This record gives sequence, structure tokens and C-alpha cells, in this order.
Amino acid sequence: MSLIKSSFYLVLISFWSCLLSCNNRSLEPDSTKNNRQDLYEPSELASTMRDMALDMEELKLKVNTGSITIKHIDKLISSHSTMSSDQPTDIREIQPSFQLFSNIYIEQLEELKTIILKQGEISEQILLFNSALTTCISCHREHCPGPISRIEKIKI
Ligand code: HEC
Repeated sequence: MSLIKSSFYLVLISFWSCLLSCNNRSLEPDSTKNNRQDLYEPSELASTMRDMALDMEELKLKVNTGSITIKHIDKLISSHSTMSSDQPTDIREIQPSFQLFSNIYIEQLEELKTIILKQGEISEQILLFNSALTTCISCHREHCPGPISRIEKIKI
């Protein structure tokens, strides 16, 4: 790819990530939308995400002490899986990559479960826990950069 072409894509990508950032929604006023609801009532997806952040903060403590149970991880897998069908605040902000990142994230939790079943090393559990969070961040880079620093802090 030529330099000009790649810089063009770079500019295009940064433009879109800016426009699509969930923090910048107010830049795009839409009189047909109920803005009050936008501001005060989280979408299904936003509320799942809030729970996901709390769940992962809690899981961090358990990974560190090697005390995750299968029951616990199963509960997270089933509640976080709803992200792929949850209603987002604005469907126009959802990129084709969303499904892919969502599948990878759930697969990583499944792998973490497999390691726990096999009573694998804590270091292996930490590796997968951090990889799942990297997937959160990759998806957020394309959709909603706001929470990235909070997600970074959950890593071990
Ligand atoms: C497949 C893509 C994807 C993955 C994976 C993902 N997110 Fe999100 N996240 C989003 C999108 C899109 C939104 C905006 C939701 C909306 O406004 O409806 C969001 C919103 C959020 C929010 C803000 C919710 C609010 O109050 O508005 C937080 C916090 C969050 N995510 C944390 C996380 C954490 C923690 C993980 C991983 C454990 C994660 N996300 C994984 C796409 C993703």
C-alpha cells in the first residue's frame, strides 16, 4: 500500500473512532431521538457492559488468589454472552467487527474455564484473564474508547 493511501486510511479510521465514540454522541444532535432517555437510561448493552466491568474487577481478586470456581465462571459466561444480542444505545455505531470481538471474548472465558477445570497454573489463568481484557479493549477502540483506561486497570 502506498504511503498516501495508508495515511488516508489512518485519517479515516481516526475520524470514525472519534465520531463513533460513545462519549461524543452529543455531537450528533438528532431531534427525532429521545435525548433524555439517552442520557439517563442505559441501553441493554450499556447495562450488560457495566455489569461486565464489575464482574471482571471482582474476578481479578479471585484470579490472583487462584480461587475461581467453575460455577462462578459459568455464571459470567452466560451473563456476558447476552452482549451479542443486547440492544445498543445506537445501532448505527455498531461495526461489523462487533460480533467477532464478542465471540473471541466469550471463547477466551471458555478457555479460562478449561484451564481451571484442568487445575492449570495461576500464571496461565492470569494470561487468559488479561487476553480477555485485551479483547474488551480492541472492541472498545472501534466502538467506544471512553472506558478503555478503566479496563486497562483491571489487567493483572
Ligand atoms: C464486542 C465489543 C465489546 C466488547 C468485547 C466489550 N465492550 Fe464494552 N462496550 C461496547 C459498546 C459498543 C459499548 C457502548 C454500549 C451502548 O452505549 O449501548 C460498550 C460500553 C461499555 C461501558 C460503558 C457502559 C455505560 O455505562 O454506558 C463499559 C464500562 C464497558 N463497555 C466495559 C467493558 C468491559 C469491562 C469489557 C470486557 C470485560 C467490555 N466492555 C467488552 C463494546 C464492547
